[in-house]
Amino acid sequence: MDMTKRPRRLRGNPALREMVRETRVDKSSLIYPLFVREGSGVVEEIPSLYGQLRYSPDTLCQGLEEVVKAGVPAVLLFGLPAEKDACGSGAWDENGVVQRALRQARAAFPELYLITDVCLCEYTSHGHCGILDGETVDNDKTLEVLSRTALSHVGAGADMVAPSDMMDGRVGAIRRALDGAGRSDVPILSYAVKYASAFYGPFREAADSAPAFGDRRGYQMDPHNRREAIKEAALDVEEGADLLMVKPALSYLDVIRDVSQAFPLPCAAYSVSGEYAMIKAAAAAGLIDEAAVACEAALSVYRAGADILITYYAKELAGWMDEGR
Ligand code: PBG
Ligand code: ZN
Repeated sequence: MDMTKRPRRLRGNPALREMVRETRVDKSSLIYPLFVREGSGVVEEIPSLYGQLRYSPDTLCQGLEEVVKAGVPAVLLFGLPAEKDACGSGAWDENGVVQRALRQARAAFPELYLITDVCLCEYTSHGHCGILDGETVDNDKTLEVLSRTALSHVGAGADMVAPSDMMDGRVGAIRRALDGAGRSDVPILSYAVKYASAFYGPFREAADSAPAFGDRRGYQMDPHNRREAIKEAALDVEEGADLLMVKPALSYLDVIRDVSQAFPLPCAAYSVSGEYAMIKAAAAAGLIDEAAVACEAALSVYRAGADILITYYAKELAGWMDEGR
């Protein structure tokens, strides 16, 4: 056999295989999403998200303890208020659920990096991500309350804010509000490229944030579009975003590739609730090896170009990454 090129030569030894890996993953790039609800003494299972727990502000530290122990450096907080209204005023309440959670977390875990999701859908009675004008979300009216919400999160101890509402101009509005309050040091992680996805199903149950009528296609992106991702990201960069996010992850690897190559900003990908639920359900049915599939799915997101991964598997992945999986 006259064959000088044999790719298998690099696959015959485990040390060599690891040495020639093109993608290396590290737990310092992980962010873990957590849900905080109104009440006290609450630690409850989230039925739609097997294995994920919801906490009240006073018990949140139990959950954070595990995150810190796992070596995950950052959390992304979502809030479920006791009461909702038409304009989502619970979102910027100084004594709101996220604000109280932040104060607890900040005091107990000074090293843990605290990021908050900035949106109104968990706080509005109609479940849409902004203030309504008839049946549509009024973009410009919403900017003001989003800015207030971001500012109140930062005031309560958030290190970074992550607007997920998909209103036009919200990154600029939040940047101006933070700068005006003397917080030009706080970075914005923009959910720049967020699709109107069916993969958010389990989350909406977890966060009690499903829209009461209609859907989010009037503000979130159409999954058919790829170039539009560049348009959305470019606008957010211009408005002062410090990091960009693509969401969901697994069905949008092409978009992660595009966005990570087009902009010199860190690129985060959110492996959303439906992605997590699919792996959990298939594993529970005995159809796949949960750890192997979760690792392979995460790896694909990094290989596509993501620098940061937001995932409900963050704690487990941190351990698997340490093992070199
Ligand atoms: C709120 C928000 C959503 C998610 C993150 N922030 C839901 C939505 O837009 O309907 C989805 C996260 C997930 O599915 O894990 N705007
Ligand atoms: Zn929302």
